[in-house]
Amino acid sequence: MATLGIDIGGSGVKGAPVDTGAGDLLAERVRVPTPQPSDVTSVVEAVAEVAASFDGFDRVGITFPGVVVDGVTRTAANVDKSWLDAPAARLFSDRLGKPVTVLNDADAAGAAEVAFGAGRDQRGLIMMLTFGTGIGSALFLDGVLIPNTEFGHLELDGKDAEVRASDRAREVDDMSWEKWAGRVEAYLKHVEMLLSPRLFIIGGGVSKKSDKFFPLIDIRTPMVAATLLNNAGIIGAAVAAEQAERPHPVDVSAL
Ligand code: BGC
Repeated sequence: MATLGIDIGGSGVKGAPVDTGAGDLLAERVRVPTPQPSDVTSVVEAVAEVAASFDGFDRVGITFPGVVVDGVTRTAANVDKSWLDAPAARLFSDRLGKPVTVLNDADAAGAAEVAFGAGRDQRGLIMMLTFGTGIGSALFLDGVLIPNTEFGHLELDGKDAEVRASDRAREVDDMSWEKWAGRVEAYLKHVEMLLSPRLFIIGGGVSKKSDKFFPLIDIRTPMVAATLLNNAGIIGAAVAAEQAERPHPVDVSAL
């Protein structure tokens, strides 16, 4: 039973076959640049190009940087607006000729971290937050995903939080680590006030540099860096695609 995981990100579409029992890639991942504009037709072709690098897979899990309900993409904050209400799972499945599961990118990354990474064996309410082009959120209660939370769009200082505190905001505004960490701290304090999670798992590319900003953030909730880094989305997508067929330590059945 071979499953391909594909992660659609702001700059790259990355994929690999996944060992969903161990949470590892079975082959080196393949990456193509995310098309610009990132319209439905171009992204479906980019995904097909990644999938064509592998053979012998039976199903595919694909992440998307927006809300996904029943395989339909409902929001498109950082991708082309042609994704609004697109029947994504059907489009991918028609193009790839295999069953496809589509889920939110942060939900996928969180599922991988909860099953194999920083959230392993943790009970209670766990929140994964990814700081990248936007801010993605994923919420788990005792290992069960509550899908499609969009806490990156809370209001912070009168603005959409991801506009103030995403990693892209740090880069675009050329912020110092101190300045950006101050915004991330204000954001995390707001989220902890609303939800009181037991643990924050901080993901996204910037989590590789956690030593630069974790010491600058003072909150009550324990906070750890994601451990699967670049591969969390690919692994989580594959886990979601397989979940219908066999039990798994992380439960994404509410997708
Ligand atoms: C989207 C989320 C997504 C996050 C990270 C946000 O703008 O609304 O659905 O998870 O970016 O890509």
